[in-house]
Amino acid sequence: MQFSQFGQKLATEAGIVTLMDDLGEALRVNPDMIFMGGGNPARIPAVEAVFHERLQAVLSDPQAAYQLMGVYQPPQGDADVLDACAELFNKEYGWPLSRANIALANGSQSAFFVLFNLFAGEFSDGSKKRIQLPLIPEYLGYSDLGISADFFAATRPNIEILENGFFKYHVDFDSLQITAETGALCVSRPTNPTGNVISDAELLRLDELARAHKVPLIIDGAYGTPFPNILFSPAEPFWNDNTILVLSLSKLGLPGARTGVVIANPDVISAFARANTILSLACGNFGPALLQQLLKHEDILALSRQHIRPFYEARMQHAVASFRRHLSGLPCYIHQPEGAIFLWLWFKGLPITSEELYQRLKLRGLLVVSGHHFFPGMKDDWPHAHECIRVTYCQDTEMVERGAALIAEVVKPLFEICVD
Ligand SMILES: Cc1ncc(COP(=O)(O)O)c(C=O)c1O
Repeated sequence: MQFSQFGQKLATEAGIVTLMDDLGEALRVNPDMIFMGGGNPARIPAVEAVFHERLQAVLSDPQAAYQLMGVYQPPQGDADVLDACAELFNKEYGWPLSRANIALANGSQSAFFVLFNLFAGEFSDGSKKRIQLPLIPEYLGYSDLGISADFFAATRPNIEILENGFFKYHVDFDSLQITAETGALCVSRPTNPTGNVISDAELLRLDELARAHKVPLIIDGAYGTPFPNILFSPAEPFWNDNTILVLSLSKLGLPGARTGVVIANPDVISAFARANTILSLACGNFGPALLQQLLKHEDILALSRQHIRPFYEARMQHAVASFRRHLSGLPCYIHQPEGAIFLWLWFKGLPITSEELYQRLKLRGLLVVSGHHFFPGMKDDWPHAHECIRVTYCQDTEMVERGAALIAEVVKPLFEICVD
């Protein structure tokens, strides 16, 4: 069988597919594996209880149950849900939004596929544009979303070493190049994999640059405000009509709902809705129906602020303390955890690659993600990209403790050999 170029791009060895297969296979072979890879959100019983109650309400109302199962959503998403979202953003942030500014998607991953390919790739005048990632490491799920080759441009960050074994990435504005070949800028905020939160000042500068070059600034808020609000440091919510903000229900605890929310100016939204209709015909109804209930009962912000953020903050603090205890004495820096659900560990001068470390940890019964996957668009080889790993702290605290101990057991001898 021979696939087209499009087919080859989507149907062959994409990094994310190999990684997900490998994680799945490892768990199948050893179900007792400590799972600190992947991006599944944690289970939070109080939050799950509200989801169940709201879903029950939908199912027990015959008209709502019919709407859930028996009708297609309109291209942009259900108008009542769009209105309720607009009202939430107007009320919370004073953003002047109406339903024309909002579209629903089958998960934010599919929204990025559409958005990236709307703004980058081949243009009818023969030019070619790329998605510019102003700060890598960035979300590995972007890597293979471009239909055409050479789809991303990326800028390495400045690294600030902080006290207590922390470090932080900053946008290197001196190296960031926005040219006629830039189609859009994109940042995840908070960032997967690092837990970094691009500062308000950095975001304002990116916005100015984007507007000056007449390209949109895409902000991936999968972990951000107003929901699920997995933020441990202050960050102003940001939107204007040159911004495309993409939210998701997944990290609220609803990855199975496959629902993303795109907030942008009406031209972008109508282009997005048309493309999404061609691809999916309509979004699924489950996520929007639940979202409507959560908005109607004013649950979504309350759950995010009173349960989800505090839950992850406590898990993050525990994970930091565990890793500090086990890795003390090693040249290991932790990226300052400002949000999201991961710790990003940098083993400075690691004598083997992070991929090799991942393999060795897997043999010992621990799954993490090698850091080198998170550098989409990087053209040169940067040793730093092979010195980091991402660990999630969504597992219970005892697992995280065991994971930290195992990492220390595997990494310590590597540095001792190096000193000899
Ligand atoms: C930063 C980021 N963006 C987008 C996504 C895609 O999420 P979903 O398609 O479940 O909305 C993820 C998933 O892990 C993510 O971490």
